[in-house]
Amino acid sequence: MSRFLKALQGKNQDGIPPIWFMRQAGRYMHAYRALRERHSFMEICKTAELLTEVTLQPIKRFGFDAAIVFSDILLLLESFGCGVAFEDATGPIIESSEDFRRGSWDKNLEELQPVYDGILLVKEQLQIPLIGFAGAPYTLLSYAEPISFIYSQPELVERIISSLEDAVVQHLCNQIASGCSAVQIFDTAAGLLPPLPFISYSIQPIHRIIKRLNEAYPTIPVLVFIRGASWKFDLLRATGADALSLDWMVDIGDARRAFGTRIALQGNLDPSLLLASTEACLKGVTAILQQMEYDPGFIFSLGHGVLPKTSEDQVERVVHFVRNR
Ligand code: CP3
Repeated sequence: MSRFLKALQGKNQDGIPPIWFMRQAGRYMHAYRALRERHSFMEICKTAELLTEVTLQPIKRFGFDAAIVFSDILLLLESFGCGVAFEDATGPIIESSEDFRRGSWDKNLEELQPVYDGILLVKEQLQIPLIGFAGAPYTLLSYAEPISFIYSQPELVERIISSLEDAVVQHLCNQIASGCSAVQIFDTAAGLLPPLPFISYSIQPIHRIIKRLNEAYPTIPVLVFIRGASWKFDLLRATGADALSLDWMVDIGDARRAFGTRIALQGNLDPSLLLASTEACLKGVTAILQQMEYDPGFIFSLGHGVLPKTSEDQVERVVHFVRNR
């Protein structure tokens, strides 16, 4: 079994943690930028051959222990009739829709078929595990509607969150059925919520999603990342995740002591360290490795995603250092 899947089960006895990064494919890579000169981001996401090529780019370049499907969490909103556009200057622009507010969506997820076709293609060429993913309901909602919406329209929000749960479960199950060996749920925006809505709109929906995934696919591990909430140990545990991906604001050793050993932990290097001097960066890496030495359920990763200005050489040095220290 691969080192990544072993660590997810808390059974990696290698003394070397598996390593992969969020946003390990993308603009910091020359090979990606070259492809982007010819194709838009959306075109890549919707063409099985192109998304396959980009998914494999960081694996070929750095030899990570896991690949993540090249796609975006926001594509799911198209299945609710929302307009989704990625603008270089402004980031994503989402236009909400009546269907979205009614909680009505395309149950066949037809817009996402290229993702599933791409996964099948990637699997033909990949020897390591492939991670599927989706945004959590709250983060998806936060891109489609202003934050004030959750306070002014609570019944509507309940309905939308519930239909997003259905769509996320369906999308993740489709990815697993196509060949993903693990899935990660990203709730990037939820850490900004006050305590009560955080529980009802982030923790509980994720918990319900994981319950349904576990029923459908009992052996597929589920990883959860809630940016800005990594210190809420008890609530994170309540999601029922097999693994928690932690941001860099917590001490990962503290997290391990709080969680006990029955949950895998992934993280949590500050992505800005990849932009700093190699010496500073490897010092940060060492601090994490020392905390997690011989931890059988530890996956080395970033506290968030690779930043676009990161140098490939720095990423390469970190991968090498983690494996050969
Ligand atoms: O390598 C990988 O990790 C897989 C690909 C991946 C992308 N987005 C590609 C992408 C993944 C896992 C995501 C998830 C995602 N997308 C999240 C959750 C995780 C996180 O990063 O917090 C969120 C919040 C989004 C929404 C999103 N998509 C934003 C805010 C942006 C613009 C800002 C940015 O970082 O570029 C995107 C666009 C996007 N998604 C790009 C990539 C490679 C850039 C597209 C380009 O210009 O080529």
